[in-house]
Amino acid sequence: MRIMVLGGDGFCGWATSLHLSDQGAEVTIVDNFARRDAETELGAESLTPIVPLDERLDAWHAVSGHSIGFRQIDVARDPQGLRDAIVEIEPTAIVHFAEQRAAPYSMRSPDHKRYTVDNNVSASHNLLSILAEVAPATHLVHLGTMGVYGYGANGKPFQIPEGYVSATLRSGNHVFEKEIMYPPDPGSVYHMTKTLDALLFYFYAKNDSLRITDLHQGIVWGTTTDQTERDERLVNRFDYDGDYGTVLNRFLMQAAVGHPLTVHGTGGQTRAFIHIRDTVRCIELAIDNPPATGDRVNIMNQLTETHRVRDLAELVSRLTGAEIQYLDNPRKEKAENNLLAANANLRNLGLDPTHLSEGLLHEVIAIAEKYADRCQFSRMASTAKW
Ligand SMILES: NC(=O)c1ccc[n+]([C@@H]2O[C@H](COP(=O)([O-])OP(=O)(O)OC[C@H]3O[C@@H](n4cnc5c(N)ncnc54)[C@H](O)[C@@H]3O)[C@@H](O)[C@H]2O)c1
Repeated sequence: MRIMVLGGDGFCGWATSLHLSDQGAEVTIVDNFARRDAETELGAESLTPIVPLDERLDAWHAVSGHSIGFRQIDVARDPQGLRDAIVEIEPTAIVHFAEQRAAPYSMRSPDHKRYTVDNNVSASHNLLSILAEVAPATHLVHLGTMGVYGYGANGKPFQIPEGYVSATLRSGNHVFEKEIMYPPDPGSVYHMTKTLDALLFYFYAKNDSLRITDLHQGIVWGTTTDQTERDERLVNRFDYDGDYGTVLNRFLMQAAVGHPLTVHGTGGQTRAFIHIRDTVRCIELAIDNPPATGDRVNIMNQLTETHRVRDLAELVSRLTGAEIQYLDNPRKEKAENNLLAANANLRNLGLDPTHLSEGLLHEVIAIAEKYADRCQFSRMASTAKW
């Protein structure tokens, strides 16, 4: 099986590329190093040291005997380069991670908003238009986010479905029953780009019969997979800064370096989570179970559990003795929300969820402790406010 991983130098993309290669797939990474450029712009590197991609790929070849190819292409700005690569490689599936993925980064300034929309929407649309032209049978697996659904149904408990919901539409005396995409409610420009992606996918599945899976992923935690552990140069990203750091990893890292756990607002936000080991497994399952030509977009929720942010902070505090510090919430959102989300699709395909456990939390703390001297305390707080 030939697989292109767009955004394969990033956090989820790197772990996925190694996992698929380990299973014998011929993997080609496409990346423009935008994430490495953002590190330079923000003055905030991954806590774990990330060597240049060619060194990562050499290390992988040395420990596994497998080669992973690489093309440096800006998927948003170089459609010709992307088209040429797809024509040459003839991939069975393309996994699309190549987007700007931080909500705070997308809200830093008007320029950052424009960049996030231009980059993410153009990347997805370039890919779709090329697939429709030269590779309509190739399965596209895209990483979306649980954040597209918004949080809560006017305070009522309601299970967020996997993409589609049956609706009764009323207009005057007319009533129409229809299965529609769950109405999106993005909370940042970043999340909004994923809702725009969803409409692009809907159109290309309908009009060009493209085969598309959209995985609405929760917040990824952890850093290590079976493959990244095999050599120091294969270590994965560990983002903890105010823009790219995600909540549970940030708490674990703060505990490791003796910083209080910074909770935004009351910490009453409930979020969906998944461990990086399950992320790679979900993508493998999605690749192995493509929709048929002519099917609607296959939307699956890629999460294994939900947690309230202050409960996570209290758990990490109990395990490590770290203090908890409550800060003003930089986001415009409800102080408290419930979150009930379906995830039967990936479970039915064979996902055996990794749940939050003390052992795994300690594993992440150990990684953070190992690289604690690289921590820049001044980069931990979120500067974007909206
Ligand atoms: N990390 C999470 O917690 C999380 C949660 C939900 C969804 N996701 C989704 O998963 C995907 C990957 O997230 P991540 O955490 O690995 O992000 P990341 O920033 O670590 O990786 C993204 C990669 O895409 C590359 N990229 C960006 N724009 C590109 C372009 N125009 N051309 C080529 N390459 C480009 C970047 O250089 C980077 O290597 C994102 O789309 C994100 O929305 C991530």
